[in-house]
Amino acid sequence: MFKNIKLMPAPMASLTDLPLREIYIKFGAKAVITEMISSEALHYGKPSDLLIKSLSQHDYSDANFILGAQIFGSDEKKMADAACFISQFPIDFIDINAGCPVKKVIRQHAGAYLIKDYEKFFSICKAVTDSTKLPVTVKMRIGFNSIATNITEICEKLENIGIAALFVHARTRDEWFSGRCHWDIVGNIKSAVKIPVFANGSIDSKEYSDEVIDSTSADGVMIGRAAAHSPWIFSSWQKEAFVIDRSFVSDVMIEHLRKAESIYQEYAAVKLRKQLMLYSRRFPNSKRFKISICNSSTIKETLEAIKRWKNAA
Ligand SMILES: Cc1cc2nc3c(=O)[nH]c(=O)nc-3n(C[C@H](O)[C@H](O)[C@H](O)COP(=O)(O)O)c2cc1C
Repeated sequence: MFKNIKLMPAPMASLTDLPLREIYIKFGAKAVITEMISSEALHYGKPSDLLIKSLSQHDYSDANFILGAQIFGSDEKKMADAACFISQFPIDFIDINAGCPVKKVIRQHAGAYLIKDYEKFFSICKAVTDSTKLPVTVKMRIGFNSIATNITEICEKLENIGIAALFVHARTRDEWFSGRCHWDIVGNIKSAVKIPVFANGSIDSKEYSDEVIDSTSADGVMIGRAAAHSPWIFSSWQKEAFVIDRSFVSDVMIEHLRKAESIYQEYAAVKLRKQLMLYSRRFPNSKRFKISICNSSTIKETLEAIKRWKNAA
């Protein structure tokens, strides 16, 4: 399934919803994953209407991509139920979150905690793979407080359980999102397993991605924050080169806003504040834009702020 895929946008809670995933696909991403979904709500068969929309409304007219749904939790039965429930949607694979570092998730013994409690991690992976016909992948860190000494054995075991691919954030839980990535560990994991391994962590250009793939032999890379502020990064792998100026970026902002409006209606203006500010990040004199976006609560006000930003020198 991941054979011809070299790069993927990383799942990001509150960002990689349907509109952003469609923007990623427009710029060339061939595989996208939802933000993490709690197994609790799915286990009780009560997903929100928004989640249902998010999973069922992808525009499949360009079917040249695969969609994964990421679930998190710490109870194998609930995770299996969640996987079973979510398999009825038009998704291509299920991803298990074993990387989230936030206290709220760790307290539930989910996310990156699973690397510490790896016997539980294996039981969850086994229960999930047994509950669905879809391929199951894992997005993981390489340790909790420090690099797990048995990280390659953990990955071998995941492969034996039937996990279809590994997305490896080359940091421990305690390293959160910054500092040097341990690419040597990703290289060790890649040598130990036959399933596809994707390297993740602070990759922000095709050049850096090539370097990481060279040094780790990973099958591909996963890009998180750099894709959130510059989704056109995926076009760097294509022949078509875009000029990334205010006019180009404001068109992307408007397209994103319209897509969000179709799901969240007027609330899209509030929901997209963070994302629109990320888009403007690399441009000088964007302070006024950020202030206007933070004060906009309607689509009309947001569109006006984008137009002013586009015309500002
Ligand atoms: C705001 C934010 C939300 C995130 N949400 C998720 C998530 O829902 N699931 C997940 O597996 N990882 C999540 N991550 C981690 C990213 O997928 C990725 O592993 C991490 O940001 C490192 O990649 P990067 O340096 O390219 O951003 C999140 C990261 C950020 C910054």
